[in-house]
Amino acid sequence: MKAVAVFPACREVQLVDHPEPDIQSPTQLKARILDVGVCGTDREITSFQYGTPPEGSDYLIIGHESLAQVTDVGDRVTKAKPGDLVVLTVRRPCPHASCIACRSGRQDFCYTGDYTERGIKQRHGFMTEFVVEEDGYANVVPSELRDIAVLVEPLTIAEKSMEQLRFVQERLPWDGEEHRQALVLGAGPVGLLGAMALRIAGYQVTVYSRSPKHEEQNDIVSAIGARYIAAETQSVDEMSRAVGTIDIVYEAIGASGVAFDVIKHLGPNGVFIFTGVPGRKGPIEVDTDDIMRDVVLNNQVILGSVNAPPHSFQAAIRDLGTFVHKWPDAVRALITGRFPIDQATTTLSQGAAGIKNVIAVSA
Ligand code: BGC
Ligand code: ZN
Repeated sequence: MKAVAVFPACREVQLVDHPEPDIQSPTQLKARILDVGVCGTDREITSFQYGTPPEGSDYLIIGHESLAQVTDVGDRVTKAKPGDLVVLTVRRPCPHASCIACRSGRQDFCYTGDYTERGIKQRHGFMTEFVVEEDGYANVVPSELRDIAVLVEPLTIAEKSMEQLRFVQERLPWDGEEHRQALVLGAGPVGLLGAMALRIAGYQVTVYSRSPKHEEQNDIVSAIGARYIAAETQSVDEMSRAVGTIDIVYEAIGASGVAFDVIKHLGPNGVFIFTGVPGRKGPIEVDTDDIMRDVVLNNQVILGSVNAPPHSFQAAIRDLGTFVHKWPDAVRALITGRFPIDQATTTLSQGAAGIKNVIAVSA
């Protein structure tokens, strides 16, 4: 079958012929891949800065944002049946008995770092025609979401973050109705989906972004009742004056410079959530005394969040349904390009044109 693979040793990205997998145990299912989303992580992997092939393989099949249709199920599969649409989780547990996180099914909090990730770390991904997986890693999606369900995985980043945020803010012994001013950094898919999640959670939202696509993104941001501020024309100081007290920052740019500029503007009892994995671009100057002083005197929390457990996939499936009901055009506008698998290598090398580009592996 066809698959898109990265060969780190010889620095190549190729369409390869890979053996089609078969069900090996009664708890596995086989699925035909429909859509695979391309994100910044994939671009890092295909520019050889990130990503590791499985042991013994020269290449890694990329792709971790999936939508697939179940074709066969083992006898003990309970979560899905043939014909169902599914989105697969990304991370698989480490092998160590001592890792309480992985042993509890919470490999998103793995202690050892020896977890694997499909399409990213030591496990083949989804940019191929068929996959076989344990049914516990499959999440069934209603068929009405067929055209947009590839957005579920990037939305899980916001879902896990929102859950962490709720846990953290339980420290405040009142319901935070008044303090719901959120700032989203970045207007890519993670940022815009995060803005939608914050909106339905009752936050006022401002999206601050540097981007060549202001108009499209501005339309989406206005449609969801949020405000867009362009970083090219307004400095961080100006933006912060316009927003007022910032209770929450949801970082989705993966660039540390802007993020650390914005930390200084976080309000009292505020939470700054990092989701981006920046490439290494060299040191920058940051006034650490200022930041440390504010973090202490204002009870602030700086929180990192990565990967997502199955219940965040369930939340993403439910919320994507809510989003598309409330804002049908804005949600569909997030997907700006669909390309066949034969064009995947060119799509990947062209960089981040559009918002979310999707490889439509089959119809
Ligand atoms: C994926 C996560 C993954 C992370 C780090 C992100 O792009 O969405 O599932 O854990 O990269 O590899
Ligand atoms: Zn991704």
